Amino acid sequence: MKKTLSVISGEGYEVLFSGKAYDAMRSLLETEPYSSIFILVDTHTKANCLPLFLEQFTELKGADVLVINAGEENKHLKTCQELWYQLSDLGADRKSLLINLGGGVVTDLGGFVAAAFKRGIDFVNVPTTLLSMVDASVGGKTGVDLGGLKNQIGIITHPKMVIIDTHYLNTLPENEYKSGYAEMLKHGIIRDEAYFEKLLEYKPLNSNNIDNYIHHSVSIKNTVVAEDLYESNLRKILNFGHTLGHAIETYCLNNPKITTLLHGEAIAIGMITEAYLATQNCGLDITVAEQIKKVFLGIFPKVSFTNDDWAAVIDLLKYDKKNSHGKVKFVLIHALGQPAIDIEVPSENLVDAFDFYQRH
Ligand SMILES: NC(=O)c1ccc[n+]([C@@H]2O[C@H](COP(=O)([O-])OP(=O)(O)OC[C@H]3O[C@@H](n4cnc5c(N)ncnc54)[C@H](O)[C@@H]3O)[C@@H](O)[C@H]2O)c1
Repeated sequence: MKKTLSVISGEGYEVLFSGKAYDAMRSLLETEPYSSIFILVDTHTKANCLPLFLEQFTELKGADVLVINAGEENKHLKTCQELWYQLSDLGADRKSLLINLGGGVVTDLGGFVAAAFKRGIDFVNVPTTLLSMVDASVGGKTGVDLGGLKNQIGIITHPKMVIIDTHYLNTLPENEYKSGYAEMLKHGIIRDEAYFEKLLEYKPLNSNNIDNYIHHSVSIKNTVVAEDLYESNLRKILNFGHTLGHAIETYCLNNPKITTLLHGEAIAIGMITEAYLATQNCGLDITVAEQIKKVFLGIFPKVSFTNDDWAAVIDLLKYDKKNSHGKVKFVLIHALGQPAIDIEVPSENLVDAFDFYQRH
């Protein structure tokens, strides 16, 4: 299995695995005369991943470590502002490098911090969750939430490279692992039926073979992004499950009575409900929607929503980034591996989609 990927979209960058990745990083540090190097971690990756990362580099002994609190609730402009002050106080300049060592919160926020600081400094992503390895650290989307709304502020910009080392996953809690697995299943659902079927048989937890699956997921995402970086068309397919999923994630984040859901967990509910919408609007066979529901409910327990909760989730759809001219646009599927974009659905279908999720 090939372990090197290249994406050429605007500025080219590589997604590299393990030993090869660290070698490439050492070459980068030798060839680029960085004036100073900063490593961004959150409280969990500082404890669990930073020692492993620093073992690889004597060159980074003097690097400053910037720490943010772990969790989606910190993916905000306030955290960015604190980091910009710290960078400034520590003498960072336009030739500084920021290394983002963490999950999707660190890579999304760190990429944005780097892109805006002094109008842009180099950054490298070192994802440490399965979700950030297969999704968040690649593709160029960076940014933060605004109030309770997901990913409203951000830009598209690329890292110098992405380093994937699955040793970091050894300390990842199981529910976080499952969250990444949900995004991998999404790659199969939208683009590759055989991959979806293969993932069903596959027990990713504690597997020695996870590199190959991560490689395949990243390949799927990179192929789509390379064709449509700014999401005018094809890239929208990566949002399957995310229209309702982001609204559900947002609603749960802001509602103290409901347990906060992991990103992948919310997206899984989004994929079940949007699979139902696909049966009504794109001719998806109901047995496939039932299969998708069974798969995701086998990973995450069902969440109890009331009718009022669901009405509030539907109301949040008006903030979705794919909307245009006041209309909510969904990404659905005709069949496994066959996506459809820009689909408007009748509002009564949204209520039925909720019933589909809730019923046994
Ligand atoms: N930019 C994109 O294209 C894109 C795509 C998908 C998701 N995202 C974003 O990614 C975020 C979700 O990413 P995530 O699931 O990685 O969340 P996260 O970054 O919050 O990480 C999940 C938890 O795991 C901890 N953690 C990380 N690595 C660890 C390790 N190796 N060992 C132990 N603990 C570890 C973190 O501290 C955190 O508590 C969301 O904000 C989502 O919007 C972005």
